[in-house]
Amino acid sequence: PTASAASSTPPPALPTLPPAVAGAVVSTPTTPIDGQTTGTSGLRKPTATLVDNPAYLPNLLQAYVNALGPATTVGARLVVGGDGRYYNATAVQTVLRVAAAAGFAAVTVGAGGLLSTPALAGLVVKTGAVGGVGLTASHNAAGLDGDWGIKFQGRNGGPAPEALTDRIVAATRAVTVVRAVDFGGPVNVATPGVRSFFGGAFVVDVVDPTAAYVDRLAEVYDFDVLRSFVATPGFAMRFDAMSAVTGPYAKALFVDTLGLPPSTILRGTPLEDFGGGHPDPSPAHTPALVAALADPAAGLLLGAASDGDGDRNLIVGPDFFVTPADSLAVLTEFAGVAIPWFANRPGGLPGVARSMPTAPAVDRVAAALRIPVYETPTGWKYFGSLLDAGRIALCGEESFGTSGDHVAEKDGLWAVCGWLAVLATASASAGRLVGVADVVRGHWARHGRTFSARWDYIGVPGAAGRAVLAGLRDGVVAAFAGVDRPPPPPPVGSDGDDGVRLDGATTLVHADEFAYTDPVDGAVAAGQGIRLFFADGSRGVLRLSGTDATAAATLRVYLDAYRPWGEGVADADPADVLGGVGGEVARLARLEELTGRVAPTAVV
Ligand code: G6P
Repeated sequence: PTASAASSTPPPALPTLPPAVAGAVVSTPTTPIDGQTTGTSGLRKPTATLVDNPAYLPNLLQAYVNALGPATTVGARLVVGGDGRYYNATAVQTVLRVAAAAGFAAVTVGAGGLLSTPALAGLVVKTGAVGGVGLTASHNAAGLDGDWGIKFQGRNGGPAPEALTDRIVAATRAVTVVRAVDFGGPVNVATPGVRSFFGGAFVVDVVDPTAAYVDRLAEVYDFDVLRSFVATPGFAMRFDAMSAVTGPYAKALFVDTLGLPPSTILRGTPLEDFGGGHPDPSPAHTPALVAALADPAAGLLLGAASDGDGDRNLIVGPDFFVTPADSLAVLTEFAGVAIPWFANRPGGLPGVARSMPTAPAVDRVAAALRIPVYETPTGWKYFGSLLDAGRIALCGEESFGTSGDHVAEKDGLWAVCGWLAVLATASASAGRLVGVADVVRGHWARHGRTFSARWDYIGVPGAAGRAVLAGLRDGVVAAFAGVDRPPPPPPVGSDGDDGVRLDGATTLVHADEFAYTDPVDGAVAAGQGIRLFFADGSRGVLRLSGTDATAAATLRVYLDAYRPWGEGVADADPADVLGGVGGEVARLARLEELTGRVAPTAVV
């Protein structure tokens, strides 16, 4: 970002504004700020980065509107809202000022500045907006000592495609002036209502953040069925909103719509610092939920949680963790019978998708349903074109994201309702209340069990993380260049003579670096993770996290293995089944030598 870089880029076209708006625009010269790049999902920075530099957000927002251009912004509608974290209230006001100066005619805002990511995505489509601005750093900790984040959603409500994020990043490097209107004070976004400015030339439409979202889920699920199921004597569940955005959504859905008691919801009030917690819906960050489930007196059939912005989900039962890969597989298996949105579709499900590092449990269900599975790079944006083209009806990722084609985002509460629908169907056919563990074991009995784990090496030096990938790229991947990947072996124990072997053979049979060509628009994404394939069909996948807001890197090592149904499979510990392949991956990747770590920081 130098003067010469800026001067070599043509100046952005200026919007033609209604005179009353034009008269209120304040133009402030600025210079590009380093590092305004986007990761897997928007920009995430330590909150202090923005608080300490009042030009930080205006610069970035100006880059958004410069990248979109007046042909897109003038006279159009934008949607804005976020997860309620610290600095969002300030940011909403900045978005309104820059949006008005860019010629937007209207901005829809969730009251209190709140909108979960799937609610934002739905509102973009419902209101015919050209896009949405999500103020969230997802599951990262919040507050002045935590992180802040922002992402742009496209017209379909989903994450901006890479071409647009590339234009935004280029625009951040060329920004010379920020144009923002002066409203003469903060706009009231606390309560629903239409606020009109400049004689109606600019309108702020503050809406109940939950209403349209609940209406949409009412199109997906039969709430009458769910309502009578959860009213069954003996039914109880808990949902942990983690003091983040999903509290009000969970209340609107579970309490006000389905009639469950308020005690169903844990940590239901959004707090600016998420109560000091880390709203990452994994068992490690939901101790109260795990404790509630462990209490036999509570008799819970379902435990669930969502993250900061409500797009991720955790599904658990008493002493039972449903892996995201299994959750997608089970939802796909039951979609055609338990979820009207899918069941009433002529021709059935068109296909499903999972990200490449996600263990392929859903592939077995898709094979049984005779529908295609698309394997995409990590990041929800890669599902977007498949959803838009109607090629997939469900998709999911190992990072606790699952959704259907009712919205172009992952959707935490959609998944929880999906599990309620699955439990209702399974309970109806069993003639008794059935919990998540029984459902998953039934799924394994029909399809076999896919074991999976993610080993996270958090805070390794960036150079060390890159060296691990480079070492594999130059070593085993190069060694298999031009060699076809062998067909998958028959499952361990499938010859039936000595039962299912729970430990696996770990001979490397292939390695490559994942590259993806979007089957709809032909866009190519290369360098999407190193894949190691082993003789028993198990996999190791390595990539660097794209959501880590720190200067260091998080190296992710994903492991999976398949075992057909048989004695001991249901109770096998994934650590035992995957230990052999994990050790071999660590050896091939020279993890200890290159990172200095003898063990992962966290196992998910
Ligand atoms: C965000 C995206 C997900 C993606 C995840 C990966 O949450 O919305 O689509 O799976 O990032 O995170 P990572 O840290 O592994 O890059």
